[in-house]
Amino acid sequence: MKMGVDYYPEHWDRSMWEQDANLMRETGVSLIRVAEFAWSRLEPEEGRYEFGWLDDAIDVFYKYGIQVVIGTPSCTPPNWLVDRFPDVLPRDAMLNPRYPGIRGHRCYNSPSMRFFSTKIVEKLASHYAIHPAVIGWQIDNEFSLNECHCENCNNRFRDWLSKKYGTLEALNQDWGTVVWSGEYSSWEQITTPFGGTKFRNPSFLLDWKRFETDSVVEFQQSQLSILRKYCPDHFVTHNIWSYPMSLDYYKLCEDLDFASLDYYPGTSPEKSVSGGYNGALTLDLTRGIKRQNFWIMETISGPPGCWFPMWRTPQPGFIRAFAWQCIARGADTLVHFRWRSAPFGAEQFWHGLIDHSNVPGRRFEEYRMLCDEVNRLSPVLAGSEVLGEAAVLHSHDLYNALEIQPQAEGMDYFDNLKLYHRALTKSGILTDVVNTTDDLDKYRLIVAPSLYLMDEKLADQLKNCVNNGATLILTNRTGVKNMSNVCWIQALPGLLAEAAGVTVGEYDPVGNDVHTIRMLDGKTYSCSQWCDILEPAGAETVAWYEDDFYAGKSAVTVHSYGKGKVYYMGIVAEESFYLNLFGKAAEEAGLTRFTGLPEGVQISIRRKGNSKYLFLLNLTQKQQTVELKGTYRSLLHEMSVGPDVILDPYAVEIVELDEQFGEISIAATV
Ligand code: GAL
Ligand code: ZN
Repeated sequence: MKMGVDYYPEHWDRSMWEQDANLMRETGVSLIRVAEFAWSRLEPEEGRYEFGWLDDAIDVFYKYGIQVVIGTPSCTPPNWLVDRFPDVLPRDAMLNPRYPGIRGHRCYNSPSMRFFSTKIVEKLASHYAIHPAVIGWQIDNEFSLNECHCENCNNRFRDWLSKKYGTLEALNQDWGTVVWSGEYSSWEQITTPFGGTKFRNPSFLLDWKRFETDSVVEFQQSQLSILRKYCPDHFVTHNIWSYPMSLDYYKLCEDLDFASLDYYPGTSPEKSVSGGYNGALTLDLTRGIKRQNFWIMETISGPPGCWFPMWRTPQPGFIRAFAWQCIARGADTLVHFRWRSAPFGAEQFWHGLIDHSNVPGRRFEEYRMLCDEVNRLSPVLAGSEVLGEAAVLHSHDLYNALEIQPQAEGMDYFDNLKLYHRALTKSGILTDVVNTTDDLDKYRLIVAPSLYLMDEKLADQLKNCVNNGATLILTNRTGVKNMSNVCWIQALPGLLAEAAGVTVGEYDPVGNDVHTIRMLDGKTYSCSQWCDILEPAGAETVAWYEDDFYAGKSAVTVHSYGKGKVYYMGIVAEESFYLNLFGKAAEEAGLTRFTGLPEGVQISIRRKGNSKYLFLLNLTQKQQTVELKGTYRSLLHEMSVGPDVILDPYAVEIVELDEQFGEISIAATV
């Protein structure tokens, strides 16, 4: 485990490098990331490479025992390159070149871009392969889909489609182009989605997204293979930009050593509680990309701002608490963005750990304390893994398909994922978030939000899990379409109807209209977005509709199937409904539970061998108390804590659990 910072030697006078390196060492920083935007300094004109300044900088930091991750600079093609080779620039749907004047102005399918980026990566890789300070690489910076409509993208899209479908007949058939006389009679008729996308064939649009992901992956691969060749001992990663994302991160990271995340939790005091839960989801998603620990390649150091009004400055304890949240959920190294605020350029007010004054202040002192703690606990925590017992399923394909065709007013795939994950987090259920195509055998509780696209493989896998004893929780919009984004001709939830013991007789996309459901015990909950009017076929009803023409009809059901059970939720309800349902399902499935967590207090467990470390995080501005059943050793404070643990605003506690941790529970004292 290491503490690092993002550092831009090209932004500072050389005389500052040594002072910075010295302060870093003294603070406990042992890693910097450099150069990811420095192309114009590394190759000031075509073919003239100037690495001398970077050598000097790296040597200075090496002298102070600081290791280096180099970012490949392909996110910022320099002006000479764009000037001479205009195919570098992406084109919008009107075919105008897109030169945002900032960064990311590169078409992934541009031959010039591929040529010059692989050339500079080759030079860098061969030059730094044996430098003792350099340990790894970040490819590019925060990839995203750039919707390029240039000729190269058009040609490659057609190639991609012809590889996928073989014949035009097969493509016409799969996409259902018969609608609106859209049948293609020659490949040339197929283009990128010029002229807007709203009314386009949804199968075409989903394939376009998949093609775009493949373009990024191929672009990355062109650099990755060079790095693998020259630097076999170095790791290679990429810093992903948050969620939700059209770009498929699972594919992007498949061949990388680990995923890295750029994490900027919201600092506004009112939003910090909900922000903490959204952050927990982002971190769990990132851990799920490769189902292993990850790095934070950038995270908050001060108030962000520049092209929007600045956010509130992080409250005392905020930077430290959110850093520990990352570790609690699987981060193995934290790199803070950035060491010092930039005096010039687009990001002057995206504050670093040190302000423009160059006088280390309150935030820096907090960071120093964080470095001390992480460095002290590193030998204990290194090699430990996050314990997840329940799984939430996610996929970028589902996100894209549901973006292409929004199902009801106010209904959003990712917002609902947040809702379910937040309820699990609040219920103290240890949760992983994984790709729908992942192996799910180890989970006894699987929450599967809107499996709108479904094939036999996914249905069989889920049925197998349930057969073997898992509890599966399905929601509305399950089994609607095949992977070509075409509706199945069968009663919903389609391939899972038999396992769920229920079919959808009719549905009502109620959007923002509020409805009510009633449980067997008389408790009622409000719901909105969607109402599936269910026809149980073997399943028992758990909740009924209270109003509208379907009053008295089933809204939520449960069905025993094999050794397990399947819940089907036809609605999207208020949060307390899920706290209740997930709590009950987790209890029935025999999962570890930490009940009674106060709002904004999060827990997670990392384990190594037989040791288990419980993280308690108060991500609120209020003092909170939790009650542990027993007394435990605090790793941070080297004393014993419990049964009552008083957590000050943004406090962090890490305790080592004992053997019978399965029985430990937390109860709020209120
Ligand atoms: C990230 C990006 C950094 C920096 C930071 C603050 O998204 O990777 O280069 O721009 O945001 O804006
Ligand atoms: Zn292009």
